[in-house]
Amino acid sequence: MAPRIDLTSHIDLPQAELPTAEPTVILIFGAGGDLTRRKLIPALFHLACAGCLAGAFRVVGIDRGAMDEAAFRAHLRDGLEGAVEIGHVDEAAWGDFAGHILYLPGDFADPELYRRLSERIAAYPRLGRLYYLATPPSVAPTIIDGLAAAGLNSEDQGFARIVIEKPFGRDLASAQALNARVAESFDESQVYRIDHYLGKETVQNILFFRFGNALFEPLWNRNHVEYVEITAAEALGVGHRAGYYQESGALRDMVANHLMQLLALTAMEAPVAFDADAVRDKKIEVWRSIRPMTPEQVARHTVRAQYRGGSIDGSSVPGWLEEEGVPAESRTETYAALELAIDNWRWAGVPFYLRTGKRLAQRVTEIAVHFRHPPLALFPSEAALHANVITLRLQPDEGISLAFGAKQPGTERRSVPVSMDFCYRNAFGEDPPSAYAVLLLDALRGDATLFTRRDGVEAQWRLITPIEEAWAADGRPLPGYAAGSEGPAKAEALLAQHGHRWRPVAGNLGMCRI
Ligand code: BG6
Repeated sequence: MAPRIDLTSHIDLPQAELPTAEPTVILIFGAGGDLTRRKLIPALFHLACAGCLAGAFRVVGIDRGAMDEAAFRAHLRDGLEGAVEIGHVDEAAWGDFAGHILYLPGDFADPELYRRLSERIAAYPRLGRLYYLATPPSVAPTIIDGLAAAGLNSEDQGFARIVIEKPFGRDLASAQALNARVAESFDESQVYRIDHYLGKETVQNILFFRFGNALFEPLWNRNHVEYVEITAAEALGVGHRAGYYQESGALRDMVANHLMQLLALTAMEAPVAFDADAVRDKKIEVWRSIRPMTPEQVARHTVRAQYRGGSIDGSSVPGWLEEEGVPAESRTETYAALELAIDNWRWAGVPFYLRTGKRLAQRVTEIAVHFRHPPLALFPSEAALHANVITLRLQPDEGISLAFGAKQPGTERRSVPVSMDFCYRNAFGEDPPSAYAVLLLDALRGDATLFTRRDGVEAQWRLITPIEEAWAADGRPLPGYAAGSEGPAKAEALLAQHGHRWRPVAGNLGMCRI
């Protein structure tokens, strides 16, 4: 292991003033589901406790179920256990918050639901409305039409915004169709397509690191960078989401959105301002510069695989095909790796490698920028094998590290790899708010910077759809990888042909080890 220099000294910051959202009725469609209970309500409760929700807010849960309000509130209360942003639940604060929660049962396709909804909303005439679609994409058009038919898309009485969860469609054609449907009823300024990765503090920090420092940006281009790897490895399997995941797979679930966002933030030019359209314009330029793949290129530049049985943290786990609810003949990939080429002046010739997978050795999300070797090898050195690498680690243990070569003490002229590490937790002392809390507050305040614009999702699908199509047409068996491993051998070969290597997933302990 390379010797490390910890650069983190604790920084005492004054308590930041958190903004307060305008009074709003938050209407959650699909309120009986997991997302509402595990993510949305803990995030809203956190915001309420932090004083970010104006006193008059209401949360209306809408779903097909037959719960009454008390049962719904109890169901949500259970979901707070284990929510990272909550910790110990203050029962008095929860009681106060729960008093703002209402439940409305109904069928999303039934006009009567929207009539009752209008009645409820009419009780709060001066409040803005935030519609949150925590539903599968196939249901979104029905809800959008129902809202529009009841006039609930109108902003005459205060703002009306709609938040749409990923996946936004399942390919380019369906995303375009959904966008067109949304646009019939809502202006683009009312639409918030959510990708929770953009709410992560460390994801936002990519832009601060790049454009808030003079040191790194001059090196951040093809003249100095050899290659970039972006990894989102998970040790977890799919839990009880096998039905969804079987239809989605790793490429649609993670690459088409989260990894595309990480790539865009890493590769984009500086925006003219830090506002919604300026930032989104620059990200879209990156996606448009990525070379779309032909079927032959898909065969050469992508890898997909399924996990087989194996062991994680000493416990044996079944393979994908043995998971409950997965068809025996499933061809869904649980691992995807891509080599992408960005055809622009900054990045021409620099490969961007993306990989993600379930049931890998451990959870690691990071971006590693590998710099070119020195032009001349002056020292007999191992350092050439360990060229300079800047690693932005997004989770767990968020931090930034710079790897470089230093002289080993002693008479030998030997250079060895060392690293300078910055650890968020040690520096700032507290965990950042959850991504959902950040994004919900932004949507409530009308700031769309961290949401994906219509042309953005289409640009993402324009790259992903040819890969999905080539994979669907390729009937060869999917390679496997053992659960708990680094992933399939073919993914190593993808980089090895260029003399590059993935950073290991196993034992990748990040920057917060001290
Ligand atoms: C979700 C995917 O969008 O992101 C999941 O649907 C995945 O399959 C999750 O596990 C990962 O998010 P995080 O925040 O845990 O990295």
